[in-house]
Amino acid sequence: MCGIVGYIGDKSARSILLNCLRRLEYRGYDSCGIAVAGGSLEVYKDAVRVEELARVAPQLDGTAGIGHTRWATHGEPSPVNAHPHIDCSGKIAVVHNGVINNYQKLNRQLTAEGHSFVSETDTEVISHLIEKYYGGSLERAVEAALGEVDGSYAIIAVMAGDPELVVARKDSPLVIGVSDRENFIASDVPALLDYTNRVIYLEEGDIGVVTKDNIKIRRCGKEVVGQEHKVLWRVEDAQKGGYEHFMLKEIHEQPKVIRDTLGEYISAAEPEARLAMVTEADLEGMLIVACGTSYHAALAGKYILDEVVGIPVVVELAGEFAYFNQISAKTGAIVITQSGETADALKAMKRLKEVGCRVVAITNVVGSTASRLADQTVYTRAGPEISVAATKSFTVQLMVLYWLALSCSSVDIRRVDSLTMGLRQLPGKVQQVLDNEDKIKEYADYLSKCEDVFFIGRGINFPVALEGALKLKEISYIHAEGYAAGELKHGPFALLGANTPVVAIVAQDSAYEAMLTNIKEIKAKGSPLIALADEGDEVVKELADSVITVPRVDPIFSPVVNTVALQLLAYYTAKQRDCPIDFPRNLAKSVTVE
Ligand code: M6R
Repeated sequence: MCGIVGYIGDKSARSILLNCLRRLEYRGYDSCGIAVAGGSLEVYKDAVRVEELARVAPQLDGTAGIGHTRWATHGEPSPVNAHPHIDCSGKIAVVHNGVINNYQKLNRQLTAEGHSFVSETDTEVISHLIEKYYGGSLERAVEAALGEVDGSYAIIAVMAGDPELVVARKDSPLVIGVSDRENFIASDVPALLDYTNRVIYLEEGDIGVVTKDNIKIRRCGKEVVGQEHKVLWRVEDAQKGGYEHFMLKEIHEQPKVIRDTLGEYISAAEPEARLAMVTEADLEGMLIVACGTSYHAALAGKYILDEVVGIPVVVELAGEFAYFNQISAKTGAIVITQSGETADALKAMKRLKEVGCRVVAITNVVGSTASRLADQTVYTRAGPEISVAATKSFTVQLMVLYWLALSCSSVDIRRVDSLTMGLRQLPGKVQQVLDNEDKIKEYADYLSKCEDVFFIGRGINFPVALEGALKLKEISYIHAEGYAAGELKHGPFALLGANTPVVAIVAQDSAYEAMLTNIKEIKAKGSPLIALADEGDEVVKELADSVITVPRVDPIFSPVVNTVALQLLAYYTAKQRDCPIDFPRNLAKSVTVE
């Protein structure tokens, strides 16, 4: 969960590396550093944000270098634990994203051989191993070093007086940005967008040597030509565009990205042909696996597929999936992962493939590891999502699930037509929620003073309650819990009272009456009740202390409008509390460790 970058060309590496790192801070931001190689190697690193490093770092001369922005896993955030890590000679530097499992053993061996370590990190063993094996070729030394290592890595190594960068990956993403007389390396595409949109994604186990004019990649011992892809994301997509935070910008992009994603799949011209891709398999049931916000989209998908397709759907947390044994190859498996790099999701995917399941990935990142592992990939068209809190990626994941459901639907044609029409209206409905922003802000004032909040929903809005609570807790640091409304009386009732507000998500569906009952019960316990309800719902207005209204949609689409309202609520609550909204403490955008 770190960001790594590399540059080699004719320009000064320092400012390019720092600029690339700024774009990667969402992958980790408790410390950062750069190493620039000319005749000698100069390293500057500290437990600060990139902006501060750029302000205080001396002018480092050299046209090749590497950089790192860290989210600590081994050793506290501190200058010595920050990357790059160097060897004893001070000539070799390495940046690493991933985890080296056997680093303690390697550390002991290398120490006995005379190497001295300065940090508590797992990464430092790599620079010392490279030093140990160096016999004139940095590439060979890196290869030999990685042969000793057990774990996951994306690394870039550089050496004083040697105009090349050596790269390697295993279970962590790495991409080469291709340009004229200069090349770039990064753990993530947004880092490169200021410089190039031509990229080569490294495959598992690849080792490469990058110079300013050449890219050499070896795969399974053989030299291969890396396939170049053109990235469609624009630089502006990865910038704030006048918004105070990426999160707010990304919330506001939702009408557009919903339209883009629907345009891709629910095309008026030839829906049948495109939808057929996912209906080939003779399925006994479906399994959806995901983590975090993507898991909440998966849970909503269960209700959508249940209603529209009429097949049994099981949803599992990717991190728990390893502990289940009964998986049938006749299960249609879907893995949802915005980044396409989440370690738990990838592990689950590999296991599903091993047992013979056909796996569809729903991901936002073209060329991501998930897309390469999957039998079929359905891309969401959210553009880069920079804020750690997932927002637009969630709503477009839902779009893909609606499309999947429609493509396998067993409901009558009139229902299909009305659902398709409802989908097309969603960008406008979401815009109406955004237009209500000032009203939602007023509730944020109140919530920002609370320490505990419950979110409740039933049916398809139960996952929305989970997502509303996750959004609030991760960016505002208020303790929040999402519950199925009927479950409160089985324990959490004990916590209700005047200081514990409950946000109730009410849709005009079969759960409506039961939700009204739950609201009354909660009011009787003295908790302030904020309802999220359709405009014109006078009954809820009567019962609740206050109501955030959302535009009326077919209840199956209610998670979309409701979640957008809850995203705004979380955003403004966190803003009121002066929290670092885009980079919440202890969190990173892609979680590439188990
Ligand atoms: O990239 P993924 O969709 O696999 O990420 C899964 C979770 O880490 C992610 O959804 C996380 O929960 C969100 N950033 C929370 O807002």
